[in-house]
Amino acid sequence: MNAIGQPISRTDGRLKVTGGARYTADIAAVGAAHAAIVHSTIANGRTVSIDTAAAEKTPGVLAVLTYRKMPRMNPLPWSHLHPQGQTYLPLQDDKIHYAGQPVALVVADTRDGAIYASTLIKIEYESRPPAVFDLRTAQQDAVEPAQRMWPLASSVGDASKALADATVKIGQTYTMPDRHHNPMEPHATLAVWDDDGTLTLYDSTQMVVGTRKLASLVLGVPEEKVKVVCEFLGGGFGGKSWSWPHTLLAALAAKTVKRPVSLQLTRAQMYAMVGHQAATVQTIDLGADHDGKLRGIHHDSVNPTSVFDDYVEYAAVASRHLWRASGGISTSHRVVRVNRNSPVVLRAPMEAQGHFALESAMDELAYATGVDPVELRLRNDTDTDPYSGRPFSTRALNKCLTEGAARFGWDRRSAEPGSMRDGRYLFGQGVAAAIFTNWRWPGKARVTLNRDGSALVETAAHDIGTGTYTVMAQVAADALGLTPDRVTVRLGDTRLPESHPAIGSATMANAGASVWLAARAARDKAVALALNGHDAPFAGGDAKEVVTVDGGLALAHKNVNIGYAELLARNGLSSLVADAAYDPVEEVNGPRAIFSFSAVFAEVRVDRDLGLVRLNRFVGAYDAGRIVNPKTARSQAIGGIIWGVGQALLEQTETDPVLGRFLNRNYSGYLVPTNADIPELDVVFVGDFDAEASPLGSKGLGELTAVSVAPAIANAVYHATGKRVRDLPIAVEKLLMNGGSANPCLDAA
Ligand code: MOS
Repeated sequence: MNAIGQPISRTDGRLKVTGGARYTADIAAVGAAHAAIVHSTIANGRTVSIDTAAAEKTPGVLAVLTYRKMPRMNPLPWSHLHPQGQTYLPLQDDKIHYAGQPVALVVADTRDGAIYASTLIKIEYESRPPAVFDLRTAQQDAVEPAQRMWPLASSVGDASKALADATVKIGQTYTMPDRHHNPMEPHATLAVWDDDGTLTLYDSTQMVVGTRKLASLVLGVPEEKVKVVCEFLGGGFGGKSWSWPHTLLAALAAKTVKRPVSLQLTRAQMYAMVGHQAATVQTIDLGADHDGKLRGIHHDSVNPTSVFDDYVEYAAVASRHLWRASGGISTSHRVVRVNRNSPVVLRAPMEAQGHFALESAMDELAYATGVDPVELRLRNDTDTDPYSGRPFSTRALNKCLTEGAARFGWDRRSAEPGSMRDGRYLFGQGVAAAIFTNWRWPGKARVTLNRDGSALVETAAHDIGTGTYTVMAQVAADALGLTPDRVTVRLGDTRLPESHPAIGSATMANAGASVWLAARAARDKAVALALNGHDAPFAGGDAKEVVTVDGGLALAHKNVNIGYAELLARNGLSSLVADAAYDPVEEVNGPRAIFSFSAVFAEVRVDRDLGLVRLNRFVGAYDAGRIVNPKTARSQAIGGIIWGVGQALLEQTETDPVLGRFLNRNYSGYLVPTNADIPELDVVFVGDFDAEASPLGSKGLGELTAVSVAPAIANAVYHATGKRVRDLPIAVEKLLMNGGSANPCLDAA
């Protein structure tokens, strides 16, 4: 029964399209009240007075909370990284650190009533000029952050000497804007306190376990008295991988009014309440020989962060691991503290930023040396991680490049920029490669074999919308010899065995491994019963000879088998339960370096006169180890590519330079790709089983597919037009500037 590898459709698809799936905001509690947040209109300063009288007198209003009345919270004793959340806690003092910061909370019988009353609150501020991130001065303003997830700087060999010695040099600065997550489902929390002091948070989160920990610390409630539930997510995109102030506000509001409280953020509120991706200013230096072989790489990145959390966007990490450079590689990261809420991971954080710079620079090197961009990458491929010196567990980058190129028809590309045309359109083809961090995290799972021969999988991991319910059923089914439709999966609840957050594209390899181990343990228990239990069908046999067959077990080479239902019945059992804990060695401590890889190929057409860029076609070749479900994997790749198209061509959050406010508030001002922007996407998986990465052989996939889409498109735009855009997104005006048309090659001709 090979349930792993089957391209089955999502088991929760029907629930979702029929409205049967209950998302957080769909969950109702008897007697629930509703809360609305009042936000600071200034970005720096303090509140001088907050007049709540009119709001308090409004019918249906239960409470108006400001920092004066809000119960005190325990400050987080450590940085934003453990557990993950913004450390600035809401409504605790009069200070204002960012525009959109909560300054009051209204709780009322109805949501509309709360929102209406919130408009009646009058606030006087003492305002100071906010610190605002400026791409042009970022490098002078940058400082070393105090809090960090990885080493900030790295140096292998002597990159400076290697760069000085090189015959071909590329040195450029690449910039990328702030971006917002914009998942389809807005954030929401429903907080319910029981009479015994137990707090249940229904929360749109990618980490029920982390949210429990943070709520416990901040609210001073023992962890065993906090339950967090999130069964369905309409996307998280990293924004739901931290705890944010609204969740804590809902919990304390519910405690104050002694009723459940529902707090739902509007789309507009999500631009200031739940993080964003920090802009980056990245400088890359490449030094190479005439044949394109790299001697040295230096990669530096600067990003804005809040004044209270040093969020580091580790963009330069891409250059630590992707290519070999004979002389040395150095990287560094710094931050600029400004008045905004904390940035956070967003849709392939770190890598999607860093690869735009690195893989754009590699394209510039290809033109500078005259080496074909695919060939250039093949020449700089390596089996050893340049950073740690360890061999890669598996690295099918060569195959990604060659198979991807073959599917794309790269050999039919003419090298000269501006040389592929059709009427008013300039065609361009670009390539970029990628390496993606593979996380190894512990997780627990429980698998129960039921008396009817079906199985139940339980783990506090998540389905963020990518198909976790489906693939976990496949994993357990495979181990037990069941069809996946005989397996029920429960996720997203802290009452289930503890697991890791749905971040870092880690769920398949890690939570998946825990389910695999638990299902194997359940099978082993069944095998023991078949050999030694009551009326044992395999009595006298050997456990090693037992195999799974459809719905049960068989003794190999003998004509005996038994279904799980019959086996449990014979032993008078209503169920058979097995627990497992997956506890991998942390990746950095393992014998091999584990990463996922890709090579992606983009063809664009650029309107010669208008500078409009359209993606024409796209091929992605991925090494994410063994693929458990090719259908959900392909869907993830399509989603990731679309994220990348947004990053390349559309997405950009703008900040008012004087007021320090994010200016975008909705999908009309924040552009994301629509169906009409997306052509045929061709996706191929070329990886093999990676035993080091996971017992399932799988490596991280989801976010890998968003990486290097932007540089592939930027490189294609250069190939089409001869214009190198080093500042995302590639908006029309950047192609029309300094030339009047999108094609300086044509202008010259
Ligand atoms: Mo992902 S940005 O690691 O949730």
